[in-house]
Amino acid sequence: MSKKTTTRQKALRPTTRRITAQVFHALDYATLGSIYCDYGGLAFWQDRKGPCQQTGLNLATVLKARLPRAGRSLYVGAGVAELPPLIMETTELDRAVAAYTLRTLEAETLNAACQEIPFRIQAGNARRARGTFDHVWMVSVLNDPDCYPETSALSYGRANPVTFNALAFSRERAKILRLTDGCLQKLASPGLVTTSVEEIPWVTDWCRKRRVFFHVEKHDHATALVGDPICFIHVRRGEQ
Ligand SMILES: C[S@@+](CC[C@H](N)C(=O)[O-])C[C@H]1O[C@@H](n2cnc3c(N)ncnc32)[C@H](O)[C@@H]1O
Repeated sequence: MSKKTTTRQKALRPTTRRITAQVFHALDYATLGSIYCDYGGLAFWQDRKGPCQQTGLNLATVLKARLPRAGRSLYVGAGVAELPPLIMETTELDRAVAAYTLRTLEAETLNAACQEIPFRIQAGNARRARGTFDHVWMVSVLNDPDCYPETSALSYGRANPVTFNALAFSRERAKILRLTDGCLQKLASPGLVTTSVEEIPWVTDWCRKRRVFFHVEKHDHATALVGDPICFIHVRRGEQ
């Protein structure tokens, strides 16, 4: 089920770096702190703002080498970490993006800092996105401790066999399978999935069940917020 892919990396344009710096400067870190942390949110962002911006730009660079111009991307669970790739896609590659988070305040806060940029992050379920996409970005979503606590414990190796709630996990798994299917069925062929290493099993399970060929790139890439490494999965329907 594997197909080799080669990529040639090109530096980001200075405009992308400039816009990203402006957006990171304009973000309301007090509000973001209350969304991302139970306490100590401002200190968290003082520490993470710089690494998040730099790592985001690194990811935008590797993503740029893998995407065609003028396609469409679906971002599931878009947050601060996703801003550099979103900026790169829209300003450098003339791509359309549909970006979703379930957190209304997060969408409002991000959009307030992105007023000059041609995209809006929508508050709502990414499954409701319309049309097809040649790229789906879904990073640290299917193991989100807020949405899927038992799955998160299992995915990160924190599950306690004494207290693990198998019934709750079973319900979460059914929800995750619906979300994975609802998003990946919008993927064009050939298509690209950007996801965390922890979420690979959900994506490859979806591909196997639908007899879709996939290739998981061997190399993964660091992130600065959740900390899950990111990888790229190339998918193609109906040919070896
Ligand atoms: C742990 S956060 C990760 C955010 C970001 N991707 C990052 O790596 O920093 C998970 C996010 O996924 C979002 N999410 C979960 N299910 C979603 C869905 N069905 N549609 C859109 N967003 C979703 C949540 O709202 C949350 O913002």
